[in-house]
Amino acid sequence: MVSQSSFENVEKLLKKHNQSHILSFWGELGESERKNLLGQIQVLDFAKIADLAANLSTESSLSDIDAELVPAGSYGPIGADAEQNLKYDKAIELGKKLISEGKVGAFVVAGGQGTRLGFDRPKGDFPISPVKNKTLFRIFGESITAVSSKYGAACPWYIMTSPMNHADTREIFRSNGYYGLRERDVFIFEQGTLPNFSFEGKILLAEKGRIACSPDGHGGSLKALYKSGAVDDMKKRGVEFISYWQVDNPLVNIFDPLFIGLHALDEAEISSKALVKTGPMEKVGNFCLVDDKVTVIEYSDFPDEVAERRNPDGSLVFQLGSIAIHIINAGFVEKLNTGVLSLPFHRAVKKIPHIDQSGRCVEPAEPNGIKLETFIFDALPMASKSIILETERSEEFAPVKNATGVDSAETAREMMIARAVSWLESAGITVPRKPDGSVDCVIEIAPSFALEKDDIKAKLNQIPEIKPGDEVYLA
Ligand code: UTP
Repeated sequence: MVSQSSFENVEKLLKKHNQSHILSFWGELGESERKNLLGQIQVLDFAKIADLAANLSTESSLSDIDAELVPAGSYGPIGADAEQNLKYDKAIELGKKLISEGKVGAFVVAGGQGTRLGFDRPKGDFPISPVKNKTLFRIFGESITAVSSKYGAACPWYIMTSPMNHADTREIFRSNGYYGLRERDVFIFEQGTLPNFSFEGKILLAEKGRIACSPDGHGGSLKALYKSGAVDDMKKRGVEFISYWQVDNPLVNIFDPLFIGLHALDEAEISSKALVKTGPMEKVGNFCLVDDKVTVIEYSDFPDEVAERRNPDGSLVFQLGSIAIHIINAGFVEKLNTGVLSLPFHRAVKKIPHIDQSGRCVEPAEPNGIKLETFIFDALPMASKSIILETERSEEFAPVKNATGVDSAETAREMMIARAVSWLESAGITVPRKPDGSVDCVIEIAPSFALEKDDIKAKLNQIPEIKPGDEVYLA
């Protein structure tokens, strides 16, 4: 039973912060609803909320730092210069060694709501592969299994969910036999949430006894990795490096020896992969140096004038975009959590279903409130060292964000086929093409067959002749 004193304490707290309306329906709530509501209120960080509520309408602005914005330097694509290649050879060797010693863990963030895709299950269960229709989770699971057998090492997989999709995600993994991994090598944990606000700074109620909340963004992973015990699990296993990616990228190269090796050689704490943007307005974060620290500024916060700046050769000054692929030291996550981990909040204006003061359900047709999120890349400037490796879009980045059009399932499938074709052609295999040059077949390469281009060369005798219109699955 909720004690009178704990109710009174919460009542006082809410009054102080101008959020008393949260208890408007207290008299109508049953015992367990009351307990849950108090539980939700007690974990809120009111010092931060007061500040947020006061500044909800303030647009983020770069005016303070614009003068010092400088593009961040990066390691160029492989093969670009001889001196660099020597370092890359060393890095690849080290990366392979670290993977075989079991020092690298895989970590996918899968707690998002995937509203743009309009898929009513966890996004990782979205079928995407061009021939077998494998889901995103299956592709990752098979890749990790393949890496594990290639390097003879257990490669644990950490998966972050949110309260909105945790139970479903667990069930998907269970019913799919953990995609070939051992159950004990799969660690599924939940991220935290943040309350939703009205434009006036009031916390919204989803129900009479429940605050409207949403996941706290991919930045929440830094706290959740620690709080869930994932970092402790890593320590027990000897995992020192976390390979981070987003659930909606089927082309990700999860265990990339070059990236892991460069990060380790340079003693970085968190590193990033980048690619050259398709144009100034591409919707990816921009790599900059702010006060000498590698920093990513989200496209929505990046002024058009800065995005449009060009070098004398016509290339963009800020040409490197973030593809949300990082190597993070487990020790860095621990360090952040034992100090004061405080990532800035980013605001998103959204349609938020809630109940109004008379207890009526409101399903807004127009945006009516604000959701808050934290972003992983805001941790970059907190690192003592952070490197960037430039990579090729066609090899590593095919985001499945939308149902149709740009960055959709359709474009991702096309990119998966295109990468398979390029791997085969680079090994000397003939792939049928139409008179206009476009590919005239559908090809899917299973991770067990090849994890990278070079793996194809050892399997040439297993590749059948490919005829126009064929559907080919190489496994
Ligand atoms: P997005 O920014 O694309 O968001 O997430 P989303 O929620 O998946 O999709 P929309 O915006 O509703 O359409 C990028 C990655 O970060 C993860 C997502 O699961 C995805 O892998 N993410 C996002 C989280 O894990 N937690 C969050 O709170 C937000």
